[in-house]
Amino acid sequence: MSRATLLTGIGELVTLDPEHAGPLGIVADAALLEVDGRVVWTGPASAAPRDVDEVVDAGGAAVIPGFVDSHTHLVFGGDRSAEFEARMAGRPYSAGGIRSTVAATRAASEGELRSRLARFVAELEAQGTTTFEIKSGYGLTVEDEERLLRLAGEVTDETTFLGAHVVPPEYAEDPQAYVELVTGPMLDACAPHARWIDVFCESGAFTVEQSRRILAAGASRGLGVRLHASQLGPGDGVALAVELDAASVDHCTYLTDADVAALAGSSTVATLLPGVEFSTRQPYPDARRLIEAGVRVALASDCNPGSSFTSSMPFCIAVAVREMGMTVAEALRAATLGGAEALRRTDVGHLRPGARADYVVLDAPSHVHLAYRPGVPLVARTHRARP
Ligand code: NIG
Ligand code: FE
Repeated sequence: MSRATLLTGIGELVTLDPEHAGPLGIVADAALLEVDGRVVWTGPASAAPRDVDEVVDAGGAAVIPGFVDSHTHLVFGGDRSAEFEARMAGRPYSAGGIRSTVAATRAASEGELRSRLARFVAELEAQGTTTFEIKSGYGLTVEDEERLLRLAGEVTDETTFLGAHVVPPEYAEDPQAYVELVTGPMLDACAPHARWIDVFCESGAFTVEQSRRILAAGASRGLGVRLHASQLGPGDGVALAVELDAASVDHCTYLTDADVAALAGSSTVATLLPGVEFSTRQPYPDARRLIEAGVRVALASDCNPGSSFTSSMPFCIAVAVREMGMTVAEALRAATLGGAEALRRTDVGHLRPGARADYVVLDAPSHVHLAYRPGVPLVARTHRARP
């Protein structure tokens, strides 16, 4: 038996449907018809179908697609608040801090990791995120990486094997042997639990040559490719991502003109992570430059204990608008449809007919309030379709 629910009384509905007005496909005084977890129709409330099982009134609020957070590291143990505090007192961020979370994660029980993850998932939902990716990368042994991916897989289909996050201390003298482990037994154990493979391609982590090898090994096992690159300085990671037709290259803080041109001519999304620059006191990436060049841009939280311990997509939107040259419409698009493109998903990130009925009712009359009222909890209700 199918079930039809009409959400009506929507003051402003953001659909991202080109059939509706402007870049965000906005309908005023709108309604949305959901049947069995899918959007079937959107339009003016006055024209809404009336033969439905249930009518819900949004009371004039704005409704937007659920956020798609395409980059998180949510399974970990420990805390690095002291590192953050020291950084705010002038210490620089370095990739090496990852190792302290690796030690704490290895020491944590599966039960601890699972209950912590459940709290993060609740935190995401409360802030309007309905689709999220989770990476491994704080285990760095065959057993620990497999454990993190299994746990991630309990809460999302968007799981990413990041065994190549940093070289763990026990391989410090022989990083090449660690690359062998990642591309051999670790990939064997992790590939069945992962949709994606990722590498931290950066000075202090993995070289472009090592990254190419690791990503190619993952791709040959059917994993989709994504990459962390140009976070701490310029490098060849963006070119590598484009060469491998990665779904996304993430961070993109330090880009050369050649990087921007390569991205513009590719189907690789540039995923920008404003929480990182906020929490590491680095310069923000120049989103305007990317958008003007025709690059597809996503925003994500990168929620992790080291470089960006926020799970809030509204916070990322507010920072991107204020500091990265994005319009409010561009930032909201990047946090929804952009995230979906970065995960090569067509069923989320918008509210066109056929989409999953994942939406957020805001405690605000307009989506503009997401940037206009930074730090204010504006999510009245997150609706996540469970097909
Ligand atoms: O995306 N860049 C690499 N990985 C994380 C940082 C992880 C950490 O510092 O623990 C990131 O920023
Ligand atoms: Fe990351």
